[in-house]
Amino acid sequence: MLLRSRAAAQSRTRRTWLLLHMIVLTSQCLSAATAVTAEAAALTRDQIYAQGEFVKNWIAPMPSSPIQSIRSMRSNNNNNNNSDTTPATPSSGEEYIVQSWVTSSRSIEMGGNDISFVKDPFQATTTTASSDNSSSSDLVLQIEYPKGSYAPSVGPVEGGAQFYSTPFGDKTPYSKMMISYDVGFPDGFNWVLGGKLPGVYGALPNDGSPRQGCSGGNQSNGESCFTMRLMWRRNGIGEAYAYVPADGGSAFCKDSSVECNNQFGKSIGRGQIRFQAGGWTRMDMIMALNEPAGHNNGTLQVYINGLLVIDMDNVPYRRSGMVGFEGLMFSSFFGGNDPPFATPVDALVFFKNIQLSAGPPSHLYEGTGSGSERLILNVSAAVLTIMLGVMAAVFL
Ligand SMILES: *[C@@H]1O[C@H](CO)[C@@H](O)[C@H](O)[C@H]1NC(C)=O
Ligand SMILES: *[C@@H]1O[C@H](CO)[C@@H](O)[C@H](O)[C@H]1NC(C)=O
Ligand SMILES: *[C@@H]1O[C@H](CO)[C@@H](O)[C@H](O)[C@H]1NC(C)=O
Ligand SMILES: *[C@@H]1O[C@H](CO)[C@@H](O)[C@H](O)[C@H]1NC(C)=O
Ligand SMILES: *[C@@H]1O[C@H](CO)[C@@H](O)[C@H](O)[C@H]1NC(C)=O
Repeated sequence: MLLRSRAAAQSRTRRTWLLLHMIVLTSQCLSAATAVTAEAAALTRDQIYAQGEFVKNWIAPMPSSPIQSIRSMRSNNNNNNNSDTTPATPSSGEEYIVQSWVTSSRSIEMGGNDISFVKDPFQATTTTASSDNSSSSDLVLQIEYPKGSYAPSVGPVEGGAQFYSTPFGDKTPYSKMMISYDVGFPDGFNWVLGGKLPGVYGALPNDGSPRQGCSGGNQSNGESCFTMRLMWRRNGIGEAYAYVPADGGSAFCKDSSVECNNQFGKSIGRGQIRFQAGGWTRMDMIMALNEPAGHNNGTLQVYINGLLVIDMDNVPYRRSGMVGFEGLMFSSFFGGNDPPFATPVDALVFFKNIQLSAGPPSHLYEGTGSGSERLILNVSAAVLTIMLGVMAAVFL
């Protein structure tokens, strides 16, 4: 009896000791894990790319010499009409994009006048430029946003640009996509209330650009399109910005990092991104479809300068198995659909190293792919066959 209770006491002591030991070990592990997270090394774009199973890759071509925007040509012509100089080919930034960037319906949707290709405005500040030969062209894409411009579809002053590129064709929706670019805001950039930055769009096969928009206030019902872009907000805060089929009650909208808005797009991870004016910010965004279409497990990862800042696995990109990732949605303007978003000054934003990658094609099916619709059809077909058989057996 005494022996047993002593043994019990001993084993209690041992258990307590083990427990304490485990607590210490766990807390050590936890602090080690926190340290690792804090010190997580920034990934290169190639390392981020290598994590996905991409089968196609497109690097937006850049011209070998600068190309003006239609807007700047017009203002130069007004000052000094030297039409005897032979025009360059292509003659404008818009024309270059339409010729070389596989734009859907061979057109710029909005703001074709505001596109030019210029020398890298931040290169002069890079003292090690001579030892770095990573980029073949030192030209970058420049977008102009004249004073007073916001949402070009509604504003009185047009500014910014929007177009769709389908470098992998528009026949096959893809299961996965990665969009990468460097964005450069000039020193002292006035962020106002916010503006759009490029992303990707999803559509039905053979839909060059999403038919019902899924942007500009036209909501996605998940049956034909979706869009996932980035945005800057006031003071250079950033976020992912989505038109996807999610209602207020969905797990996605209830996620603490998501702000759902019934009128416009949904904000994801606002404040997880911070843009610094006066230099380049490297953005990489990777997305995979929810599969099947009735199951809300789409993914989104956003990296800023190689650090993972948004990581979601509950994104409902679509409700129909016919919809998949299609291409680049280049989109950049101040706005916002209201005048308070307008830029009070002529503004510029720069883009370079634009790259789009696609994973395997998604397999296409009607409906949500839960199997129920097809099963019901098959069951009723089977029941019908059996009934016919029984009837034949009874009556013949
Ligand atoms: C520039 O000059 C040419 C011919 O000299 C004329 O046809 C054209 O309209 C002029 N353009 C402007 C913007 O004045
Ligand atoms: C620059 O490019 C050349 C040829 O492509 C290569 O041999 C050289 O190592 C590169 N230099 C640096 C600093 O990467
Ligand atoms: C939104 O839908 C309306 C009506 O279908 C259409 O006229 C408009 O162009 C769409 N907007 C966008 C941005 O697609
Ligand atoms: C979603 O879940 C299905 C299985 O339920 C899986 O096959 C698919 O890969 C998942 N999608 C993602 C993006 O994780
Ligand atoms: C239902 O029928 C279709 C076409 O007859 C067939 O392809 C599919 O595999 C069937 N599904 C099931 C669950 O049996």
